[in-house]
Amino acid sequence: MEFVRLGRTNESVSVAGLGCGGHSQLGMARGATAQEAADLVRRAIDLGINFIDTALVYGTEEAVGLGMEGRDRSKLFVSTKSWVGKGGAETEPAYLTPEEFTANLESSLRRLKTDYVDLFHLHGVSLAQLDYAREVLLPEVRRHQQAGKIRFVGITEVFRHDTDHRMLQAALPLNDFDVVMVGFNLLNPSARKTVFPLTMQHDVGTLIMFAVRRGLNSVENTREAVAAMIEAGEVDPASINPDDPLDFLRGTPGIKSQIEAAYRFCRHEPGAHVILTGTGSAAHLEENIASILSSARPAPLRPTSRMARNRQGPRRDFRHSIRNSGN
Ligand SMILES: NC(=O)c1ccc[n+]([C@@H]2O[C@H](COP(=O)([O-])OP(=O)(O)OC[C@H]3O[C@@H](n4cnc5c(N)ncnc54)[C@H](OP(=O)(O)O)[C@@H]3O)[C@@H](O)[C@H]2O)c1
Repeated sequence: MEFVRLGRTNESVSVAGLGCGGHSQLGMARGATAQEAADLVRRAIDLGINFIDTALVYGTEEAVGLGMEGRDRSKLFVSTKSWVGKGGAETEPAYLTPEEFTANLESSLRRLKTDYVDLFHLHGVSLAQLDYAREVLLPEVRRHQQAGKIRFVGITEVFRHDTDHRMLQAALPLNDFDVVMVGFNLLNPSARKTVFPLTMQHDVGTLIMFAVRRGLNSVENTREAVAAMIEAGEVDPASINPDDPLDFLRGTPGIKSQIEAAYRFCRHEPGAHVILTGTGSAAHLEENIASILSSARPAPLRPTSRMARNRQGPRRDFRHSIRNSGN
């Protein structure tokens, strides 16, 4: 495993982070038991991962707690989250009260079987929710931080709606958060221009989500995701091959698969710290760690001349988000 300094937390964390949400939820979304999910957590730790990301709504905190049993807690970096809205992301104005927010933290600690979390995020915050999150909930988080239940404070965006990172662009200059979770991938690398310059300026740690997601985990799914982008007017169909949008990757020496390319693309991005990998399969986990640890992407993974040309065109280029997302 390779380790990276997670911004101002000064913590050394694995560049591959175990994502316990997304479509897999450690396999629990497809019927795996908490014990089976805990086996995957143990496998991840044995493979050198020390960064584990979960959330109250993922339903995987108990599995993470089981997986950590008997391990040296001080060597693991555990991240969890609570929504800001009562019914999930973007449900303003039905916000959680500070008391409800605290109850969420307490239940996370119970399920994780731990006295503290290394990182507690305000989860899936939209631009409209940011003021409430900062003014009402953040003081509550700070109180728990002072009591030793939370070490560092983070915020995550709702990438499927906030594909231009408007919330993070507003939040980062205010300098409240030690770490942010941001969507970044081959289909939408816009954080390179709008988020990473700010995180680097403020020495904020970054967790990369949506590296693969559904839209990049097979050629068929990428075709579907790109067709939706074309339909929405986000991609100029003349700029790509709609039947095989990442055709430029094939035949490139050193690239084993689309998924491998997608993880490598994120890993070597300046400003990207932990690349989250979400899976319910031990074989996929091993493959994905190997991809994240492989050398910098080969040159053709930089924007091709065709992609670069399209960036200057009048319509939006090949950079917008994957549509089919779960949380
Ligand atoms: N707003 C938020 O806070 C937020 C939102 C989204 C995600 N997250 C975090 O980010 C983590 C990563 O989530 P993500 O959605 O970006 O997931 P991801 O890790 O990019 O992709 C996961 C998807 O790809 C499949 N997959 C993974 N490796 C594969 C392989 N080698 N071959 C074939 N298929 C493969 C998985 O299915 P299999 O189970 O079959 O492998 C799953 O469907 C989440 O677990 C969560 O911790 C946070």
